Amino acid sequence: MNRPQPTDFTCVEHDALDTETAYRLLVGCVVPRPIAWITTVDAAGRVNVAPFSSYNYVATSPPMLAVNIALRAGDGAIKDTARNILASREFVVNVATEATMEEMHQSAWEYPPDISEAQALGLPLLPSRHVRAPRIASSPVQMECRLDQAVTLGRGVNTLYIGEVVAFHLSNAVYDGHRVDAQKMRPVARLGGPFYSGLGEVFHRPMLQKPPGGEGSAD
Ligand SMILES: Cc1cc2nc3c(=O)[nH]c(=O)nc-3n(C[C@H](O)[C@H](O)[C@H](O)COP(=O)(O)O)c2cc1C
Repeated sequence: MNRPQPTDFTCVEHDALDTETAYRLLVGCVVPRPIAWITTVDAAGRVNVAPFSSYNYVATSPPMLAVNIALRAGDGAIKDTARNILASREFVVNVATEATMEEMHQSAWEYPPDISEAQALGLPLLPSRHVRAPRIASSPVQMECRLDQAVTLGRGVNTLYIGEVVAFHLSNAVYDGHRVDAQKMRPVARLGGPFYSGLGEVFHRPMLQKPPGGEGSAD
């Protein structure tokens, strides 16, 4: 794309931003988004699995992740993942990769609460060490989280679930004991509409600041 000219812009302002328009613009503008493939358990011990791309890390000391879970668009009901997180105060974020894209995508289907997506999709699971929610075995990175706070935002459609990572499980296929290699992991990202993307071209530039807590060189 060429640099846009100053006259080439459309401005959509707050009075035109109903929930549907806001969603459409946000998911088109904030791209590519990493995908948290979240496992939780309900009171009966059933494993729930669903993907969420309104997600990022938000703190490093201690490590924290945040995921925005909306109420269901149709009936305004709370999603199973959100209900389970609030009740158990625990969840696991599994990184979605190209290898598991199909299962991850299928797990977004609105299964009734008494159906385990893990069972329905035949997902192999591994026990966690600190939380009841299991890990998805086919994901190369799984992060066990304890809920730190749930913050309801704006008009109440969205709640941000902030979790402390109490354990990182890192496959030796992507982790060398120091760093996670994104090119080996091949994460899949969400774009606007029915689109996903892979990592694409990777650009290298020397880092200009030391990383948080880093004593050594800023590489
Ligand atoms: C790739 C992907 C990303 C998604 N991201 C979100 C999100 O960030 N927040 C959200 O509320 N729903 C998101 N969804 C929709 C949920 O996955 C969907 O509502 C799912 O049925 C929730 O399942 P649950 O009721 O078992 O929690 C996403 C769906 C897909 C396919």
